[in-house]
Amino acid sequence: MASINNDKIALITGANKGVGFEVARQLAQQGIQVLLGSRDEERGRKAVEKLISENLFSSLIQIDVTNQSTIDAAVTEITTKYGRLDILINNAGIYVKEPHPSECTLDLMQDNMNVNFFGAFSVTKAFLPLLRKSSSGRIVNVSSALSSIYFHQTCANSYFHLAYSASKASLNMFTYQLAQELKKTNIKVNACTPGLTATELTNFHGHSVEIGAKSTVFLATLPDDGPSGKFFNENCEEDKW
Ligand SMILES: NC(=O)c1ccc[n+]([C@@H]2O[C@H](COP(=O)([O-])OP(=O)(O)OC[C@H]3O[C@@H](n4cnc5c(N)ncnc54)[C@H](OP(=O)(O)O)[C@@H]3O)[C@@H](O)[C@H]2O)c1
Repeated sequence: MASINNDKIALITGANKGVGFEVARQLAQQGIQVLLGSRDEERGRKAVEKLISENLFSSLIQIDVTNQSTIDAAVTEITTKYGRLDILINNAGIYVKEPHPSECTLDLMQDNMNVNFFGAFSVTKAFLPLLRKSSSGRIVNVSSALSSIYFHQTCANSYFHLAYSASKASLNMFTYQLAQELKKTNIKVNACTPGLTATELTNFHGHSVEIGAKSTVFLATLPDDGPSGKFFNENCEEDKW
């Protein structure tokens, strides 16, 4: 029997490696049509080929979340080929080692905001008309525990990551406000953290990408009576912002 996911179309930004790639794999395993976003065509092509070697299918979409013309071109391509989008996963993100907040530079703040917040904001705005055409649109913003003031207050080893934390806190605010605005529509908007996951971003510290991808996949495939405007941890439990 065909899976109910067979006709769903999902776009994942930054899916050529790390958590995004694993999310692409897990969604493809569920029969969802995966549009694998990569800012670099070659890296994206290799990721698509890797999935093919596992008998999983995806299509490459070249998209740099800081470059509006690539976002617009992706919207045009997906509009022409599919006419709608069911799942948007804003996963692309950067993290660089940071000094203490008082020593954080404006450049560092702007670099983090440009990818982690303005990138997700621009991609979401551009794809909203296509998501509105879905019978059950889902937007998943891949945030971080570091976005949460509650986490910093309660974590014994709270580190200094002002630029990264602020960019993800902004993403959380966008998640909540957009969810409120869309609450009478078919679109759900949520944020999650993968938890500390072994990818290039963490120098391969943390749990496996299989575990890291779980919360994103959970929110991407929420049923119609599922939550919206919430933040979930790596165990798919609702957490404090
Ligand atoms: N790993 C963790 O412990 C952890 C914890 C909390 C939250 N997160 C979040 O999880 C998400 C995925 O991170 P990850 O750990 O999988 O990191 P990763 O392995 O470094 O992957 C990051 C992905 O984002 C892409 N990217 C960066 N800048 C981009 C841009 N301007 N446009 C499009 N794509 C861009 C990268 O592309 P290139 O290959 O071209 O650089 C790569 O595909 C991020 O949002 C991160 O903040 C991760």
